[in-house]
Amino acid sequence: MTTMAKAGLEDVIACTSAICEIDGLQPRLSYRGYNTDELVNLSFEAVCYLLWTGELADTAQLTALRATFGRERRLPAEIVSLLRNLPASTHPLTALRTAISALGALDPDGEDGSTEANLRKTHRLTVQAPLIVGAFHRLRSGKEPVEPTPSDSVAASVLRAILGNVPSDAAERAIDAALILHADHELNASTFAARVAAATETDLHAVITAACAVLKGPKHGGANEDVLVMLEEIGTPDRAEEYVKAKLAWRETLPPAERQMIKARFSGFGHRVYKVDDPRAAHLRRMAATLAESDARTANWLAIADRVRAIMAEEKGLKVNVDFYSALVYQSLGIPVDLNTSLFAVSRMAGWTAHALEQYANNRLIRPRAEYIGHRDRHIPQARRAELAAPRWYPP
Ligand SMILES: CC(C)(COP(=O)(O)OP(=O)(O)OC[C@H]1O[C@@H](n2cnc3c(N)ncnc32)[C@H](O)[C@@H]1OP(=O)(O)O)[C@@H](O)C(=O)NCCC(=O)NCCS
Repeated sequence: MTTMAKAGLEDVIACTSAICEIDGLQPRLSYRGYNTDELVNLSFEAVCYLLWTGELADTAQLTALRATFGRERRLPAEIVSLLRNLPASTHPLTALRTAISALGALDPDGEDGSTEANLRKTHRLTVQAPLIVGAFHRLRSGKEPVEPTPSDSVAASVLRAILGNVPSDAAERAIDAALILHADHELNASTFAARVAAATETDLHAVITAACAVLKGPKHGGANEDVLVMLEEIGTPDRAEEYVKAKLAWRETLPPAERQMIKARFSGFGHRVYKVDDPRAAHLRRMAATLAESDARTANWLAIADRVRAIMAEEKGLKVNVDFYSALVYQSLGIPVDLNTSLFAVSRMAGWTAHALEQYANNRLIRPRAEYIGHRDRHIPQARRAELAAPRWYPP
């Protein structure tokens, strides 16, 4: 057998893909060969089309996709009732994951796994996810879900579903850009999970359920919720230095294994692939700065965030990742902090489904090996055989 892979499969090439390319040194992030610095000025719908088909849409194709989205933008009553019955304390991403799994039982294409059916399921999942996030949030807050508006963009629909309205064009534009920047990221943990699931040829809803489960972890999508907690703990920019240095010093007192725990980490910092600042962070910071112009709270968070970033660079040489400023953008739009990872899922639906479609189209079961490091050739002691034997369920 081949030698053992590096821990965490670092730098292991696990598949070929024509969807997303990351250059961790430049840094550069491209979808289908187009730099996200350019794509961020398009609409999320146009980027979805690109991710799913490999090409930019022409006007008619984009109009047709928007019309499909409008037609499919509704939730089955069974899903609303399921969300209504979840405890209000349920994490919103758990609610989303559960609802997506249930949608698999209700999808009009059922168990049809043809390419055409999977594309229709992809369209439905993309417009249903924002409605689920909004409906669960409203139900847990004692409000009724908002009736969807067919002509909404995906960005407007997620704002309307959560807040009950679309606050401004600037808000819709900020969400649209955030959706684009989070839409795909090569073989991140949740996308890898999606591809492993798709490679078993299970159904698309099962694939997305698996991806949502993996996204929830604080080392992955869950990080942006923790960034806001940190900024609130710090409170004002002048306290940032003391906070960061104290936390770094405490971190040093922990044994190496415990440094891995998320409380000892600075959420929004570090990345497996980027060795420099995450290119998405610059766009998100710019959006946060625009929103900060008319909102003092956001301006304060931004000032704290910039200070933390500078101190971390100085002290540890660690760079920010996508989660650092996205948390600020969502919060300044009035989106509750615990919905951040669910918004990430709404965006990443585009990438997860693109990767699932690519995997289905050229599939081989993903089944790696483990290097066995456990005991070998052990035997059950004679004296313990009777004690451990299976119970008899009926008299011999
Ligand atoms: C993203 C992440 C999981 C990458 O992990 P990784 O590639 O396995 O990197 P490692 O965990 O091996 O980190 C290597 C070293 O860098 C430092 N480091 C990396 N990220 C750090 C962070 N967020 N805070 C403090 N130190 C960090 C540590 O010194 C670490 O070694 P140590 O924990 O033994 O002291 C990690 O950087 C992290 O936990 N970040 C915080 C969560 C986050 O923002 N996730 C969103 C990613 S987009």
